[in-house]
Amino acid sequence: MQLIDFKVCGDHRGSLISLEGGNNIPFEIKRVYYIFATKDGVARGFHAHKNLQQVVVAVNGSCEFHIDEGNGKTIVHLNGPERGVLLDMVSWREMHNFSSDCVLMVLASAVYDKDDYITDYDEFKRITNAKTRGI
Ligand code: TYD
Repeated sequence: MQLIDFKVCGDHRGSLISLEGGNNIPFEIKRVYYIFATKDGVARGFHAHKNLQQVVVAVNGSCEFHIDEGNGKTIVHLNGPERGVLLDMVSWREMHNFSSDCVLMVLASAVYDKDDYITDYDEFKRITNAKTRGI
């Protein structure tokens, strides 16, 4: 997990951020999706990916991004378009406390593949424990 602060191109008209695969996004972008109109009290995610890199940005509003790479949980408060979180290894993610205006944009290194999901936390722990032991 890594935080990425994007360069803001600003002038008297306002601000602009450009995201480029292979440049400030460290992979080729194959898919973009965004989560919005999340209902009050709803949490999302609760999975890991076997082989996927993602950058997550709250382009509007805010939410809490909980990340577990197998060695404990990190909570990142995403609250603006200038910062993204890079998920570049097998990591369990949960999204909580969405503001009603939150638009959470996700850039991904691969197209949607249901079989890439790990939805069982115990399986995720087995995989990360095995990786830690170099198996
Ligand atoms: P899901 O992965 O459950 O969302 P989250 O992890 O944020 O809780 O996805 C919700 C639905 O959207 C599910 O039916 C799969 C579909 N979906 C796609 O079709 N393409 C995508 O790129 C994503 C992320 C989800």
